[in-house]
Amino acid sequence: MNLSFFMMYEVMNMKKKIKVMTVFGTRPEAIKMAPVVLELEKYPDLITPIVTVTAQHRDMLDQVLHLFNIKPDYDLNIMAQGQTLFDITTKAMNGLNEVLSKEKPDIVLVHGDTTTTFAGALASYYHEISVGHVEAGLRTFNKYSPFPEEMNRKLTGAIADLHFAPTETASGNLKAEGVDCAKIFVTGNTVIDALHKTVDSEFKFSNEVLENIDYENKRIILVTTHRRENLGEPMRHVYKALKDIIEDFKDVEIVFPVHKNPKVREVVNEELGGIETVHLIDPLDYEPFANLMHRAYLVLTDSGGIQEEAPSLGKPVLVLRDTTERPEAVKAGTVKLIGTQRDRVYEETKYLLTDHDEYQRMANTCNPYGDGKAAGRIVKAILYYYGLSEEKPDSFVVGK
Ligand code: UD1
Ligand code: UDP
Repeated sequence: MNLSFFMMYEVMNMKKKIKVMTVFGTRPEAIKMAPVVLELEKYPDLITPIVTVTAQHRDMLDQVLHLFNIKPDYDLNIMAQGQTLFDITTKAMNGLNEVLSKEKPDIVLVHGDTTTTFAGALASYYHEISVGHVEAGLRTFNKYSPFPEEMNRKLTGAIADLHFAPTETASGNLKAEGVDCAKIFVTGNTVIDALHKTVDSEFKFSNEVLENIDYENKRIILVTTHRRENLGEPMRHVYKALKDIIEDFKDVEIVFPVHKNPKVREVVNEELGGIETVHLIDPLDYEPFANLMHRAYLVLTDSGGIQEEAPSLGKPVLVLRDTTERPEAVKAGTVKLIGTQRDRVYEETKYLLTDHDEYQRMANTCNPYGDGKAAGRIVKAILYYYGLSEEKPDSFVVGK
């Protein structure tokens, strides 16, 4: 074998191009996968990126695709009003079966804990395709809280070949379950990558309600609720507590971008509709939402992603849940779990509105979730795993 033939042989073997398919379907997955999709596009000689959306969410997903200029290669368009977990799972599995049969990617990347995530992992496994799990290893250790996300994330972890854990805590959870250390990469959370690209103190809202709020003289409480286990009475308790707050604090206004789920909307409208200082608005695009969070005084939410974003903007968060898979900011003191009981929600909110020291203590900017470089680490790890790069990514370290 002469030298040039030998070198060509080596290069051909080493520099195989890999097909990487991202699969996602809801708003938070899209926000957190967008930085990964954009990063994958930076390596056209090594990676063929393919984007498949299940569209478990429709309009809430499309807003994010538009913002980050992502044009999916496949759109399964599965969303239906009032969809059940069975609807989402079966429609996503059937759609993905066809796409995976056709494209045969080397690896499928799924994100987090939704039913799209689990269906994406399971469909890939049935096709014997490798799975990379972005935002791996978060656990509450309670299979019904959050429901069904705790189990979605765990089952996806059981299938995954590569685990992109956002934090050391998440990595520790995976190791405790026996996951091979060589398959875990601590990357930071991509939500911080997305946030860095989005918050701007000069931002102008195109939404008239938001542009006209007197941010200088009013304290804004930003509220979101959507968790399945909170639907119905738990949410009603929360809204009644908020009504009490609005009656007792005249310098407070509530901005509540209401999730599209009709089961959320109905109770919100019953309890908080028609109050002048409660602004019930449609879900916001990610850019105005992040910038509104930046201007809010306090955040009340049952969201997962918002628990990660608000601390990095120095906003205290009261979490309307009994458990969290994101203990880092709770430990740091910027996030507090308060559940959904009316009295507790009222008292904890009142405490932060009246006790300046407590507010300041919680309002410390804290960044346990990322440094804005998570997507870069994830793509580097994939290239390293497939022998397309010799560079192993560094690990995300808090405060570095
Ligand atoms: C889903 C995820 C949850 C994630 C949340 C983020 C599951 C089981 N749940 O919950 O993990 O935290 O997304 O928001 O995977 N709808 C619209 N337009 C949209 C989106 C939703 O009309 O763009 C309505 C539809 O009636 C839909 C309903 O909301 O049937 C519920 O959507 P679904 O995805 O089933 O549940 P989420 O509560 O959004
Ligand atoms: N978000 C948004 N518009 C809104 C409310 C939330 O863009 O009106 C963003 C928020 O910044 C975060 C993500 O949506 O990045 C969180 O989504 P959600 O609370 O629906 O889901 P979870 O994170 O609980 O899975």
